[in-house]
Amino acid sequence: MDSVVFKRFCAHAHQEAGIALGPSKEALLTARVGKRMRALGIDDERRYLDYLEADRTGEELVQFLDVISTNHTSFFREPDHFDLLRTLVDEWRRTDLRRLRIWCAASSSGEEPYSIVMTVLDVLQDPDIDFKLLATDISTRALTDARQGVYPIDQLTAIPRPFLERYFQRDESASDTYRVRDEVKQHVVFRRLNLAQPPFPMRGPLDVVFCRNVLIYFDLPVRQRLLAAISALLRPEGWLFLGHTESLTGITSGFRMARPSVFFLPSEGELPAEAGLLP
Ligand SMILES: C[S@@+](CC[C@H](N)C(=O)[O-])C[C@H]1O[C@@H](n2cnc3c(N)ncnc32)[C@H](O)[C@@H]1O
Repeated sequence: MDSVVFKRFCAHAHQEAGIALGPSKEALLTARVGKRMRALGIDDERRYLDYLEADRTGEELVQFLDVISTNHTSFFREPDHFDLLRTLVDEWRRTDLRRLRIWCAASSSGEEPYSIVMTVLDVLQDPDIDFKLLATDISTRALTDARQGVYPIDQLTAIPRPFLERYFQRDESASDTYRVRDEVKQHVVFRRLNLAQPPFPMRGPLDVVFCRNVLIYFDLPVRQRLLAAISALLRPEGWLFLGHTESLTGITSGFRMARPSVFFLPSEGELPAEAGLLP
């Protein structure tokens, strides 16, 4: 790929979605953009770039982001996070918890937010607790799949058997696919949101934020702004989960680390009571 064209692709990805494409991504970008160009019948990278930059609908941006980033996800990915979430919610429900707000940023095709809701519902027990999860992603394609909540059986292997029986039903249209039950879906609101462009429209205070396996795409200034926005939305003693390979290194945020990839916002410098539950 012509280096000027590559730089323009990088600038576009960064400007529109905060995604930092290093020089090592050139071969990947060439291959993946080539696939998209063939689908559109465009045979020149510069022409595709003009088309992408001129698109005002945002649709081609979504296609472009889908080819340069990955929507890879799975149910109960990084399972220790769900064990900890269970512990936290169990602790809170024994207090005077009446309202629980969780944000799943970068929710991809829905496996992560549905795993969170199943975990919370299993432990809450009290139907009077007002529990809502906001699930956001930049990819409209991923959001469409997430809203449908229909998955082939081979993607459900990490789901505990009792959860599968309680929270899924066999899809009538295809025998080897399962559908998330309305009992789970009714707690989730899916929205398109670009994490690279705070401030965000929602209001806090949030109890927990899952922002996993997406910081890796962003450079430090984008991460810094995103973490500042998350910390402004979280309540004191609210919790933040990042992906296992992610950290807050180099970011000034006010978060304290509970364990690698898990952080909380201290209240006036104190440890939250639940921190005593941590190893
Ligand atoms: C690797 S997936 C991670 C999904 C899930 N959080 C998990 O850990 O399994 C990364 C997701 O981030 C989304 N994404 C990438 N850039 C984004 C941005 N600027 N704003 C919001 N979402 C973004 C992608 O569309 C994709 O669904």
